[in-house]
Amino acid sequence: MKAGTVYRCQQCGFASPKAGTCPDCARTGLYLALVEERVEAPARGLRRGPAPASARPTALRDVVLEQGDRLPTGIAELDRVLGGGVVRGSLVLIGGDPGIGKSTLLLQAARALAQARPPVLYVTAEESAAQVKMRADRLGVQADGLLLWAETDLAAVQAALDDVKPRALIVDSIQTVHLPDLESAPGSVAQVRECGARLMTLAKGRSIPTFLVGHVTKEGALAGPRVLEHLVDTVLYFEGERHHAYRVLRAVKNRFGSTNEIGVFEMGGSGLVEVANPSAFFLAERPADTPGSVTVASLEGTRPLLLELQALVARASFGTPRRTVLGADYNRVCLLLAVLDKRAGLAIASQDVYVNVAGGGRVTEPAADLGIVLAAASSHLERSVSNDVLVLGEVGLTGEVRRVTGLEPRLRAAAQLGFRAALVPRGNLVDCPSPPLALRGVASVDEALDAVLAGARDA
Ligand code: TYD
Ligand code: MG
Repeated sequence: MKAGTVYRCQQCGFASPKAGTCPDCARTGLYLALVEERVEAPARGLRRGPAPASARPTALRDVVLEQGDRLPTGIAELDRVLGGGVVRGSLVLIGGDPGIGKSTLLLQAARALAQARPPVLYVTAEESAAQVKMRADRLGVQADGLLLWAETDLAAVQAALDDVKPRALIVDSIQTVHLPDLESAPGSVAQVRECGARLMTLAKGRSIPTFLVGHVTKEGALAGPRVLEHLVDTVLYFEGERHHAYRVLRAVKNRFGSTNEIGVFEMGGSGLVEVANPSAFFLAERPADTPGSVTVASLEGTRPLLLELQALVARASFGTPRRTVLGADYNRVCLLLAVLDKRAGLAIASQDVYVNVAGGGRVTEPAADLGIVLAAASSHLERSVSNDVLVLGEVGLTGEVRRVTGLEPRLRAAAQLGFRAALVPRGNLVDCPSPPLALRGVASVDEALDAVLAGARDA
């Protein structure tokens, strides 16, 4: 790039020679001002680190997979989301709101990595070494192989790598480190992108697994350019409600594993504790046989997660009825309510409807459709769905109940938690010849209402 001034979008990295708003982001409804940036012509050879060893093409059959390519981080939930440990030489970005526990998670991971393969270098560009030490004391982290370095200059870190020879690297955070040969401020698109690219070269060239912390903007995207998400191997989001103790780690991109897996943690007095049985955790406060509460099983990766769906249907006070949805897709809920109104004859279109996933959980799968429908119907009819019944099924626009995948693991998870029966799509009955719970197959929303809320509609 030539030297001069460019105006750049801090969200997507769009660059323009003129000031104004970002046309790319405007298409998604965000009007973001472009930020002025000085661009220095880079000195020759300065932009790239040492060339990686594999600088020539290799025949596919000659590529050797090194044994033990994955390193366990000592945190089973994190390892699962990474696809079975962190791959050597991979760059992992962990994004999340401030205060959600990113630094805590990485410090806990650093402990196990440092014990197994010292030294691990933790570059803290946000907090002082003393602050990190205080957190480490709180977590009971004492690993000898863990080196702390309060440094914001990434070039200095790079220069010291030959000396320190870390076998894992943590950079907290990518928005606060900078390269001095670029003029723009830390956190700017140019800096974040160049620092990301530099760390990628280092990680690949030296085969060190590298973790980056990334901040999230108010809009919920990773701050800095999206190019960072394209560049790194793995993007994990750490999320949760500030007022709930549980945290969910979710892979949104993973070159070395599935993106369906989630890890569940609870933030306690001495750090993050893995939640081995998240379903029990989410259902802990489920009310007994109350209208508007239905339990569904959502399949997150290989692990089923039982969640309580709640709906409240209330008379609309005036004007257009309200629909408020937390933890589920808004449009999907509106669609399901329309099906309930039109196909099952429940006069719900004129009512205010609130839908929530208890405990701050989230459903993303269509398999939860029937649960949403029944929760709304149950609240509207003031009749409860029995507490020990699990509800599964995708609902189509004609009111038909469609098959779901992975029925058996979902049923087994429910049986373990004491559920006794499940309402499932009729088409699924053949999948499970010896089910762990009593199954009732339904083919339409109408049948489902009759099955669990029998008689309520006629009353
Ligand atoms: P932190 O890891 O600093 O978050 P991030 O790096 O994502 O900004 O965690 C911050 C919050 O976690 C803070 O509000 C305090 C809380 N916390 C605990 O509740 N228990 C603990 O043991 C630790 C270390 C932090
Ligand atoms: Mg932090």
